[in-house]
Amino acid sequence: MEVSDASSRILAGLLEARTGQQLAMSRRWRIETALQSLMRERGIASLDQLVATLVAGREPALADSVVEALLNNETFFYRDRQSFDLLLGPGLARLERARSSVRTLRIWSAGCSTGQEAYSLAMTFAEQKARWQGWTIDIVGTDISRAAIDQARSGTYSQFEVQRGLAVTQMMRWFEEAPGQTWRISTEVQRAVRFQVHSLIEPVPHPGSFDIILCRNVMLYFSEGMRRMAFARLAEATADDGVLMLGAGETVIGQSLDFVSDPDCRGLYIRNTKQPRPARAAS
Ligand SMILES: C[S@@+](CC[C@H](N)C(=O)[O-])C[C@H]1O[C@@H](n2cnc3c(N)ncnc32)[C@H](O)[C@@H]1O
Repeated sequence: MEVSDASSRILAGLLEARTGQQLAMSRRWRIETALQSLMRERGIASLDQLVATLVAGREPALADSVVEALLNNETFFYRDRQSFDLLLGPGLARLERARSSVRTLRIWSAGCSTGQEAYSLAMTFAEQKARWQGWTIDIVGTDISRAAIDQARSGTYSQFEVQRGLAVTQMMRWFEEAPGQTWRISTEVQRAVRFQVHSLIEPVPHPGSFDIILCRNVMLYFSEGMRRMAFARLAEATADDGVLMLGAGETVIGQSLDFVSDPDCRGLYIRNTKQPRPARAAS
């Protein structure tokens, strides 16, 4: 099925306006693959017909479904193991010392997709019960995709998803088989994470309060300006001595002055205290 340039421009424009995600010409092959099942469900014969229906504006919910389908939700448990080792090893040890009097840690997985990132953290804390006895560990996962957040909340994964990144021992310990060849996460881990629909285009939920923020593989396809704004929002949300973890192929260097490399944990980022705290952005 061919997609005309005009149609692909309209679909890419819709995606960028709603989410900040750019669909470069070289990645526009994704459009066809991503929208196939939506078109089949709705009995829409071609992408041009889909775009004509969108443009006519008779089905406002269709635009939401198109955006959902075009988002890339790729994720898996403990993605980039080395980064998790760094965060959960020296990064967390430092925060543990810094928060020993308040005994509270606030963690935000921003762009958490279907929840594996946030649950990876929750499983690790659950496996270190004695160490975190008496602590409040607040983990929140957010994503712009309602479908992804619904799945994250359900804590239910296919056989394929549950095997990606998890050791067999962890899978056996924290998941149980559920109907339809799926696996459901244990209530203990599920209850340790709150999930919310939230866009990085919107103001941050709790300024200045997060000790750890993970924002990984979300900003890769943002425009430069959008990425700078998103970093500013993340800096606004980070505690003065909090840390930011990005995806393995991402960096703040040349992207934002709001964060600098963490001198003690190379690979993590801390707020650039030489920069004034970004002003609370207007909604
Ligand atoms: C490739 S997944 C990465 C998931 C996870 N962070 C990881 O690295 O495995 C990117 C996620 O970012 C979400 N996303 C895209 N644009 C967003 C935005 N403007 N605000 C919040 N989430 C967004 C997508 O819905 C998708 O679930």
